[in-house]
Amino acid sequence: MTPLPPGSTIGILGDGQLGRMLALAAARLGFDAVVLSPDADGPASRVAARSWVADYTDPAALEELARAADVVTYEFENVPVAAVERLEALGATVLPGRRALAVAQDRVAEKTFMREHGLETVDFAPVDDSLSLAAALERIALPALLKTRREGYDGKGQVWIELAEAAEAAWAEIGGGPAILEARAPFVRELSVIAARGRDGSVAIYPAGENRHEGGILRETTAPARSAPELEARRIAETVLSRLGYVGVIGVELFELADGRLLVNEIAPRVHNTGHWTQDACQVDQFEQHVRAVAGWPLGPTQPHSAALMQNLIGEDAERWAELAADPSARLHLYAKREPRAGRKMGHVNRLQPRAAP
Ligand SMILES: Nc1ncnc2c1ncn2[C@@H]1O[C@H](COP(=O)(O)OP(=O)(O)O)[C@@H](O)[C@H]1O
Ligand SMILES: [Mg+2]
Repeated sequence: MTPLPPGSTIGILGDGQLGRMLALAAARLGFDAVVLSPDADGPASRVAARSWVADYTDPAALEELARAADVVTYEFENVPVAAVERLEALGATVLPGRRALAVAQDRVAEKTFMREHGLETVDFAPVDDSLSLAAALERIALPALLKTRREGYDGKGQVWIELAEAAEAAWAEIGGGPAILEARAPFVRELSVIAARGRDGSVAIYPAGENRHEGGILRETTAPARSAPELEARRIAETVLSRLGYVGVIGVELFELADGRLLVNEIAPRVHNTGHWTQDACQVDQFEQHVRAVAGWPLGPTQPHSAALMQNLIGEDAERWAELAADPSARLHLYAKREPRAGRKMGHVNRLQPRAAP
């Protein structure tokens, strides 16, 4: 396809920090970003050329977005698939597209997809009622992690089950809806790969990062991860991208086992928190890469010029902005969220170390 020329408009579904950083990257390449989200006054719409506050499925808003945007993307994987279908029916191009969305929205569909394509995951079983919960407990060794099938993020909607007798209560604790029981991944560390696929099928993959979570929420990413199984990580990312017919940036979360094997934990069909290090350590970061991909531009280089440590600023961490601004080793990124709630991602810092010449 012919690349979208500068001056074109990129629509973004969602008004969070990922949309904000996408909109800024789009603006730098001469595009206008427009935002549709049910939340007013979010981080992305405040840097966008235009925005609509409406439900993702609001027909009038979708019509305006389809008319205004030359391509539509999303910054949030829980956008209803129906919204994407409506946009497509209105003639809009939506990338990465609804297949990726449908797979990533349901943890059972996601793990099933991985296994169908020869990628390893933890053992899992769907839980829909007391009967399937009992069947899952027969198959999956304890301790096991019970998660909602849909809409979980930052470790929300998850509870560990240590004893079979506690399973019913655990299921009630996460709402008693469709769930998945996952075997515990005996990982030595968590890695992720940020990868991109262009509209012409070309692929660009950043080196893996090593992630440390606390209470299910990402604290920091070190990248490139020391002696990571890069070839295997790339093979996994390439498989997922091609099998989904994906266009854009994807985040693939991995568990590294003691024997070096990689299990796929989950995918995020969007730019990803564990790719924020690319903003300061790479010539083309994940946000520009995503804009390039959906606009049909050539993908940019992914080789970092520096090693990086990305630290999230969660809740009141962001109150340290003045100290961080005075720290010459910290590059500060703030999301301009109005309320600093506990556990909320408010910003991040990237700290660079020059890489020794190879
Ligand atoms: N099966 C598992 N075994 C061990 N730890 C897990 C498992 N699933 C998730 N975790 C831990 O919880 C974190 C969040 O879970 P994840 O499935 O990635 O959900 P979210 O959508 O909230 O990011 C993971 O990064 C990992 O640290
Ligand atoms: Mg995750």
